[in-house]
Amino acid sequence: MIRKLQSKDRKEIEKIIYQIENFTDEEKSVALELIDEALNKPEQNYYNIFVYEEDGKILGYHCVGKRALTDGVFDLYWIVVAPFAQDKGIGKVLLEHCENFVKENKGRWLFAETSSKDSYIATRNFYMRNNYSIVTQIKDFYRVGDSLIVFGKYFKT
Ligand SMILES: CC(C)(COP(=O)(O)OP(=O)(O)OC[C@H]1O[C@@H](n2cnc3c(N)ncnc32)[C@H](O)[C@@H]1OP(=O)(O)O)[C@@H](O)C(=O)NCCC(=O)NCCS
Repeated sequence: MIRKLQSKDRKEIEKIIYQIENFTDEEKSVALELIDEALNKPEQNYYNIFVYEEDGKILGYHCVGKRALTDGVFDLYWIVVAPFAQDKGIGKVLLEHCENFVKENKGRWLFAETSSKDSYIATRNFYMRNNYSIVTQIKDFYRVGDSLIVFGKYFKT
């Protein structure tokens, strides 16, 4: 089942984030910062975090939010599945949940920013297989040799 993040999930989520090999140390701490921001400020609505739970265990989560100054553009900030639970369709279920959240909130665009690094190939394939297209790329964005690839999906409103 997919439900909203709760304080009791923090420990398990932290463990999952630290198991993701393609995340740098900086990415891991930023991912965890967003979890804390959402937990410490329950009134905020820019980070909406939903967890995938099976038999009382957290297997993954996604974090989505509306982009400021737009009336219908959303960012998928993070989507993460525990390594041992990957390749079983959980990512797809989380992504579909995220898309439904966007549609329910009258969103028309959902963007996911990714790196061009080899270690992100599985992530890029994942977006392509789920019918995302590359809407833009910025060369040497993160660092020289590491470009930004923005995947997007448009929802007719
Ligand atoms: C990207 C990510 C969220 C995908 O999650 P996932 O649960 O592995 O995703 P799925 O299982 O839906 O799909 C992954 C692959 O498994 C395959 N698959 C799905 N169900 C399957 C099944 N029952 N049996 C065999 N293979 C299956 C899919 O074909 C898919 O292949 P593809 O990626 O080449 O299209 C996960 O790999 C992850 O957490 N990566 C590290 C973090 C990351 O990079 N996040 C994105 C940036 S924030």
